[in-house]
Amino acid sequence: MSAAATEAAVHVERHGGLAVVTLNRPAKLNALSSALEQALLDALATPEVGGADAIVFTGEGRAFCAGADVAEVTSLDAEAIAAYYRGSGRVYEAVAALGTPTVSAIHGYCLGGGLELALATDIRIADDTAVFVLPEVDLGIVPSSGGLTRLVRMLGTARARELILLGSKVDAETAHRLGLLTEVVPPGEARERALAVADTLAGKPALAVAVAKQAIDAVAESSNAAALLIERLAYGMLNQTGSASR
Ligand code: COA
Repeated sequence: MSAAATEAAVHVERHGGLAVVTLNRPAKLNALSSALEQALLDALATPEVGGADAIVFTGEGRAFCAGADVAEVTSLDAEAIAAYYRGSGRVYEAVAALGTPTVSAIHGYCLGGGLELALATDIRIADDTAVFVLPEVDLGIVPSSGGLTRLVRMLGTARARELILLGSKVDAETAHRLGLLTEVVPPGEARERALAVADTLAGKPALAVAVAKQAIDAVAESSNAAALLIERLAYGMLNQTGSASR
């Protein structure tokens, strides 16, 4: 194993039916090196995470995540970029595609790729130490791990322009007001609250939650007629599976 792979780690623990997935590279503020992204991909494939009823993502130390590892972000050619998104860079879409409900517990810095990871989860809970910035444009790049797309769809183009072009530093209350966060809690309480919300999600009919997640994503990019059809097909399918009576 390489030194980087040894250093970059993701910690997984179970709390009953819940899995807590912790970015565990605190000395580098959990900066997302490709080794850390790969460790996150590997964590998603473990039985502890795969068999969980809900998953909480969080970060060890004083930050949720300081974004892409700037030591690795160099000028890559098109082939290397394509290879990256076939490799560890696909972790963001893997998180977004989980049928299991996901909650981010955020404290401290939540920058760049860290915010993109949080945006790939269903629910974001931050304590009021959290700071959100998308510094990519200032680095001569753009958010490209699904975050630009998710931000536009979540907040609209005007807000997305503000955050992506200006790279504004946004505190937790502002992020909540903008619609980036589900809830803001006092310092140190994000993980506990995320576990409580994850527990609520875990108690719901799992198939209905999984189908609702997919339907929400699908209708966001559908015509009105197609969106209504998705709703009704999802309802019809769930009714037939008996999910509604659980
Ligand atoms: N990539 C690689 N290493 C990072 C990092 C990143 N994105 N963010 C922080 N680190 C490392 C620092 O290099 C430092 O390592 P060192 O102790 O070996 O020197 C360590 O994490 C602690 O960071 P430090 O800068 O000392 O903490 P700080 O509180 O003074 O500043 C930040 C925190 C987040 C403001 C600052 O680290 C920073 O600007 N990081 C880069 C953020 C960024 O541009 N992310 C890319 C998004 S695309």
